[in-house]
Amino acid sequence: MTRLTIERLGHHGDGIAPGPVFVPRTLPGEVVEGDILGTAMPQPKIVTPSSDRVKPPCRHAGACGGCQLQHASDQFVADWKIGMVRHALSAHGLDVVPRRIVTSPPSTRRRAGFSAKRTKKGAMAGFHKRGADVIVEVPDCLLVDPAIAAALPMVEALAIAGTSRKAELSVMVTTSLMGLDVAVSGGKEVDPQLQMQIAAIAEKFDLARLSWGDEISLNRRPAEQIFGSVRVVPPSGAFLQATPEGEAALRGAVSEAVGNAARIVDLFAGCGTFALPLAEKAAVHAVEGDAEMMKALDAGWRKSQGLRAVTHATRDLFRNPLDAAELKGFDAAVIDPPRAGAQAQVAELAKSGIPVIAHVSCNPVTFARDAKLLVDAGYQLDWLDVVDQFRWSTHVELVAAFSLEN
Ligand SMILES: C[S@@+](CC[C@H](N)C(=O)[O-])C[C@H]1O[C@@H](n2cnc3c(N)ncnc32)[C@H](O)[C@@H]1O
Repeated sequence: MTRLTIERLGHHGDGIAPGPVFVPRTLPGEVVEGDILGTAMPQPKIVTPSSDRVKPPCRHAGACGGCQLQHASDQFVADWKIGMVRHALSAHGLDVVPRRIVTSPPSTRRRAGFSAKRTKKGAMAGFHKRGADVIVEVPDCLLVDPAIAAALPMVEALAIAGTSRKAELSVMVTTSLMGLDVAVSGGKEVDPQLQMQIAAIAEKFDLARLSWGDEISLNRRPAEQIFGSVRVVPPSGAFLQATPEGEAALRGAVSEAVGNAARIVDLFAGCGTFALPLAEKAAVHAVEGDAEMMKALDAGWRKSQGLRAVTHATRDLFRNPLDAAELKGFDAAVIDPPRAGAQAQVAELAKSGIPVIAHVSCNPVTFARDAKLLVDAGYQLDWLDVVDQFRWSTHVELVAAFSLEN
């Protein structure tokens, strides 16, 4: 038995004691006791709890691997996430105090990726236990939209119909305006009998869309999302912001940052989460690497009424960023890259002379690296909001406004 004091939380949410020793589900200042295996104390006994320790609100928290920070108060998690962003920026010499953090409420995640497998009695579906091959059933999950939690029997039915005894099915369930949008991978090859079973499950659970690998896609109703006032049918499984509340916070901040810009370029535009609402007031050029997402954005724009022009281009912005000459003439840029950030594209933005830039990021570390490029080129980081769409997890998202100093 070793007794340790937790000094801080690591990026994966584990407490870290001197050594370092990683101690799951602990908080800074806590005194813990247990056996050390390698660099971990997997089963700590909490000797002195932190005043930030709370009873996990979800009854599945102990077994489930979905959430890492259910044992911490909301205030602790908010301060910790703000601290992560400040720390990442300070590593590049940028001292920024976020204006606020907007945390999505429980039960609002619009998508969950479940695992499912057959059992002797039928099937089980849920999330993977942390670091293990075990599936934990989560019927009362507090993260996901209630329509998604209620869909677990549908996920089990898909596993019974479409997996072999040892295989595991991955089932992504997304809410849409027209019902659930379901994308399955890892299932058996579709033969006529399985096709009929899949169609019957889609019917029974009244799904909007069900796709099975690359093999079939049943479209019972258009699996629409709404961006501002525009209805869009994203490709199955395509990127969406994680919660409607988070999306609204990001969209509000992006709109504040671009102000009255008349011509906006939206880089890493997805299916138009920002581009389409921005087109209520500005002409927008949307650029994105996925051609199907661009098609969905364009189809949504064409069906809408009263929007300004929205042009689009499919382009790999890592290898082939829009250069400073192509960026000339825009009054504002929106950029929302994947976790790797957008070093090449931001280097071009830095040279572009575009007066304002709204930068959305799901990775404070790559954001800080890219922000430094803009600041070195004469941009000022005007404000930054932390947007927590992944409550109880270690994910951090943010949106920041940059303007060119005169
Ligand atoms: C964080 S998402 C943001 C999407 C959109 N702004 C939204 O809010 O829905 C990042 C987007 O970058 C796209 N992407 C990833 N790698 C890319 C690349 N190399 N070039 C262009 N787009 C890329 C993805 O397809 C995804 O749509």
